[in-house]
Amino acid sequence: MNRSFSGLPNAAGMTAQVPLVTSAKQPREIQVSISGLGDDGLGTGRFEERTVRVKNGLPGESVSTKVLRKRRGILYTEAFSVVTPSSDRRVSACSIFPRCGGCALHHMDYQAQLKLKEQTLMRALADFQVEPLRVAAPVFGPRLHYRNKARLGVRIIGGSPLVGFRESFSSRVVRMDDCKTLILAFANILAPLKEVIGQLSIRHKIPQIELAAGDHEQAIIVRHLEPMSNEDLSLLKDFAQWSRIRIYLQPKGYDSVWLLAPTDAPEYLHYLNLDFGLCYHFLPTDFVQVNPFINRVLVRTALNLLNPKPGKQVIDLFCGIGNFSLAAARLGGWVTGYESSATAVRRALHNAALNGLSVTTRFKEVNLYDSSSVDFADAQYLILDPPRTGAGENLSRWLSSDGFKYLQKAVYVSCNPVTFASDAATFERFGLQLSEVGIFDMFPHTAHVETLGLFERRG
Ligand SMILES: C[S@@+](CC[C@H](N)C(=O)[O-])C[C@H]1O[C@@H](n2cnc3c(N)ncnc32)[C@H](O)[C@@H]1O
Repeated sequence: MNRSFSGLPNAAGMTAQVPLVTSAKQPREIQVSISGLGDDGLGTGRFEERTVRVKNGLPGESVSTKVLRKRRGILYTEAFSVVTPSSDRRVSACSIFPRCGGCALHHMDYQAQLKLKEQTLMRALADFQVEPLRVAAPVFGPRLHYRNKARLGVRIIGGSPLVGFRESFSSRVVRMDDCKTLILAFANILAPLKEVIGQLSIRHKIPQIELAAGDHEQAIIVRHLEPMSNEDLSLLKDFAQWSRIRIYLQPKGYDSVWLLAPTDAPEYLHYLNLDFGLCYHFLPTDFVQVNPFINRVLVRTALNLLNPKPGKQVIDLFCGIGNFSLAAARLGGWVTGYESSATAVRRALHNAALNGLSVTTRFKEVNLYDSSSVDFADAQYLILDPPRTGAGENLSRWLSSDGFKYLQKAVYVSCNPVTFASDAATFERFGLQLSEVGIFDMFPHTAHVETLGLFERRG
């Protein structure tokens, strides 16, 4: 059995071209003139009276595409050659774009990407008749190798393993030896990781792996549907030692995750936020923001806008492990964080203690979409960072509660411009105006938009 890992992928390995289509059946090829670009980063055109969505296509371009999927009368295609390129077209830095479904915009000028995302937000706000007083310039950071968390599919095809994101318009796993999105510590070990997974006796019983990194440590969680043999375990231990990446195993749900190697690793991963003198501990299964560079600017900007007065009450809804709560407490706020995940609440309490902030912080395990008994304790300041579904009708309930009659300011962090806009309209109905809004490019080269808005009591 080969227990040596061939090391980092070489330049040739990194640029290896992947065939556009991996199925035996050759997909149909059609020419499309692209007239528009959707919020999802796909071009839009027509072919024989049908709507065509084009990955790797920009408005004004005429492109040759392969039809990869038909759904509800719409053809989903991928451009493989461009007849008339747009002035916004750029050579992709990624050798598996557009086949890989992980990114949508690698072919597009970066400033144009930011403009698209800002337009997406502005259109959503206009749909809900919300007019911000100020629009802040887009905030951006590193454009490549920014992502410290990901879930990758695993498949064994013809004896050789694939580890990667899903292909565009497909559930197949893409052939991925490199990734321009993952932090280098992960991008550089994809090839050897595939090699070791391919050597496991239960390689057919590994549906996915998860990657998670702190500032100085990386972890891989291997989900497995059957028990590992002793040989498998020692292969993975050797990999952990060689790569200096912790290996966790997950035989069942998230609470079954355990550290295989190295056994003497500290219990937690960590990240620092030096703007606030904070250290956060977390486990690879915890929610943390996937782009640590943008997260730091996001927390700094949110707290600058909120500017809580020392000694005043701050509510942090959907607080996770305390990412925003502890920064607010560092500024002197008395913070109550609400969160549905029991492990996140435990971590937030641990992090408060770690940073000497236990006296001025409280964390409560609550399903915010269910509970009518949340006590907002006359808070003047609110931080809100919900999942994609936004706050929805719950926001009216919260804002009409007694606790929020003194609310002066709210900062709202959102990964969904539509639910942000809908919630913004609710804030406005309750007399809190959207005084500033802007996008933070948490996910460059993808169509995802992260928004930060400041709401202030009128008058
Ligand atoms: C976008 S994350 C933000 C976490 C945190 N603010 C941060 O910056 O790391 C959303 C959080 O909402 C929590 N959440 C999801 N549904 C919830 C619910 N119904 N009630 C309370 N919290 C919920 C998730 O567990 C997650 O921690």
